[in-house]
Amino acid sequence: MAARDEMMAAAAAPRILLDDVSISYATPRGRLPVVDRVSLAVDRAEFVVLVGPSGCGKSTILRAIAGLNAAESGIISVDGKTVDGPPEHIGFMFQRDTLLPWLTVRGNIEVGLELAGIASIERAARLADLLALLRLSEFHDAYPAQLSGGMRHRVSLGRMLAYQPAVMLMDEPFGALDFQTKAVMGRELLRIWETERRSILFVTHDIEEAVALADRVIVFSPRPARIIAEHRIDLPRPRNLRTLRASSEFTAYTSAIWQALGDGDPAGDGLN
Ligand SMILES: Nc1ncnc2c1ncn2[C@@H]1O[C@H](COP(=O)(O)OP(=O)(O)OP(=O)(O)O)[C@@H](O)[C@H]1O
Ligand SMILES: [Mg+2]
Repeated sequence: MAARDEMMAAAAAPRILLDDVSISYATPRGRLPVVDRVSLAVDRAEFVVLVGPSGCGKSTILRAIAGLNAAESGIISVDGKTVDGPPEHIGFMFQRDTLLPWLTVRGNIEVGLELAGIASIERAARLADLLALLRLSEFHDAYPAQLSGGMRHRVSLGRMLAYQPAVMLMDEPFGALDFQTKAVMGRELLRIWETERRSILFVTHDIEEAVALADRVIVFSPRPARIIAEHRIDLPRPRNLRTLRASSEFTAYTSAIWQALGDGDPAGDGLN
């Protein structure tokens, strides 16, 4: 394809596309099917949240989009290009933090600013803003080993917010945070997203968080992950998370999703 045709095709394609994707892992007991014929398209500027029982295959799907796992069958593409390695302009916030242990809090966030190509004169101001936002200013010189789990998570989030890639894959990014920080981070993520409109694929076990953030919530079955329900969340934006939680529309969405998940978890290894 000529470069111009390629650009046109990329502009017309969904930002992320999964077409009939199945994934399994090789284990000592044979192949373990983890993702079962999942098809999903995420538009530019769309905020899509994935929910489903623990171990169903959500992280596996995110890793496959980031080019870290291969699909066994089906096609995964980003901007119309089949994924066969880590695509450009993708930011991944892993479920387990991936801070560089030899860098301080400041150094770890600066990695994101460097990736974003922010000129060094602007970096100091951006860094100070991010450290304040994440309530980490006091710890800017600390190393990851000297931080709590929640603090390490906030540093990872800072690195992604500094980088602001076109596609953000976020695997339970607020999972380890206390209630208050979680609310602040959710608000901040929405504020950034509402002004800069990136495509976000976000995994959570918190159904209220899912509805508060998403344009669409996709509900998966227990492993192997199949899409069992999909809810378009037609709540107006910008959203005020506190008032939203008191509205009957909000409650209707959360109950519908709970119901799709089977209201609780007979196997005992599911949500939260
Ligand atoms: N590298 C691997 N090799 C073999 N099996 C794996 C591997 N990674 C994940 N699995 C298995 O695949 C299944 C899905 O794992 P995955 O991490 O995608 O689940 P998840 O939906 O993200 O769960 P959680 O909500 O607990 O994070 C699990 O049964 C897990 O044991
Ligand atoms: Mg996971």
